[in-house]
Amino acid sequence: MTQLPGLLDTEAIRKDFPLLDRVVHDGKKIVYLDNAATSQKPRQVLDALNAYYEQSNANVHRGVHVLAEEATALYEGARDKVAAFINAPSRDEVIFTKNASESLNLVANMLGWADEPYRVDAETEIVITEMEHHSNIVPWQLLSQRTGAKLKWFGITDEGRLDLSDIDEVITEKTKIVSFTLVSNIMGTVNPVEAIIRRAQEVGALVCIDASQAAPHMILDVQALQADFVAFTGHKMVGPTGIGVLWGRQELLEDLPPFLGGGEMIETVSMSSSTYAPAPHKFEAGTPPIAQAVGLGAAVDYLTAIGMDKIAAHEHAITEYAIKRLKEVEGLRIIGPTTAEDRGATISFTLGDIHPHDVGQVLDELGIAVRVGHHCARPVCLRYGIPATTRASFYLYSTPAEVDALVEGLEHVRNFFG
Ligand code: ALA
Repeated sequence: MTQLPGLLDTEAIRKDFPLLDRVVHDGKKIVYLDNAATSQKPRQVLDALNAYYEQSNANVHRGVHVLAEEATALYEGARDKVAAFINAPSRDEVIFTKNASESLNLVANMLGWADEPYRVDAETEIVITEMEHHSNIVPWQLLSQRTGAKLKWFGITDEGRLDLSDIDEVITEKTKIVSFTLVSNIMGTVNPVEAIIRRAQEVGALVCIDASQAAPHMILDVQALQADFVAFTGHKMVGPTGIGVLWGRQELLEDLPPFLGGGEMIETVSMSSSTYAPAPHKFEAGTPPIAQAVGLGAAVDYLTAIGMDKIAAHEHAITEYAIKRLKEVEGLRIIGPTTAEDRGATISFTLGDIHPHDVGQVLDELGIAVRVGHHCARPVCLRYGIPATTRASFYLYSTPAEVDALVEGLEHVRNFFG
């Protein structure tokens, strides 16, 4: 078995993930390499979900009975866990949403309805990058269309890095918000946060970071990042679907208006007007995703017990090995950084002229699960003049043997298509 420095004890870790024992297509053990789309879930998270529904299910913040108190304590306890996980100065800065897309839409809508000095209008500019997931493009396009604000973006270099050579022209005195991904979901690129934040702060613009592909894989410290908003999702970090997070600086959350109105987010309501609860509740209208938050709390406990630094080191070793092995496959072109430096464990590639959908289908027959398509980052495919890529993405339970299986599978694909 290939041994690499920095690897986790995957034999022990994999025992926590029942799905990794799945057998598909006539006895082939699943090789799950679609972790950028969603991660598998450990027993500890599944048990927490079950225990919540079996023992404590009730609505939160509105009952005096014992179950309501337990459910509220579990839900708010999950907020404490997430706040500690991202080193938030205050638990009140952690807003639960349904996913990262909702978190990013929330920021865009807050700024669209805000008073000065935050208001985005026809005199102002919004900055994103060509490397974004659609969920960090479309909300800003909508905001731009609705307010008249100009939408600008950073391009990408041939090597899959952000092109910041024109940073002073892209981020200007008119910029109100700069929103960018910390780690690309299609190329794995880790972006240079400091340079962008320094320029944004020079012109007084707010900064929003999409950390969906970062929170599961590396230490995420919102104080060290120095952004104003950070968005991520639970299901990519061994948590359940249906739960996302928006972290925002407290003074901003106090000043900015709510987006969704309804129960839970109010202080008082009359027929003519309402006043709002303090953050985070001001931004959590309706019955929240209670069980999902409890599951995310268990996920955070699970990752913390292993250690995010150790998970990052494991993925770095796997990425280095995967890049080396993939380069051995004739006709394979990596789309994105071709070394393991400043990149995550997501590797997109093309294989000669074989369409990625064909690559994915043949790999699937071998039990190897990868994602094919534009990965909700279509501008990246347009940038490189390709319709789609095949994407393999690794996580804390991925092994060198799975990398080998992928490489063997790709050789099989090449032979299959002659
Ligand atoms: N955002 C997920 C991905 O990149 C679905 O695959």
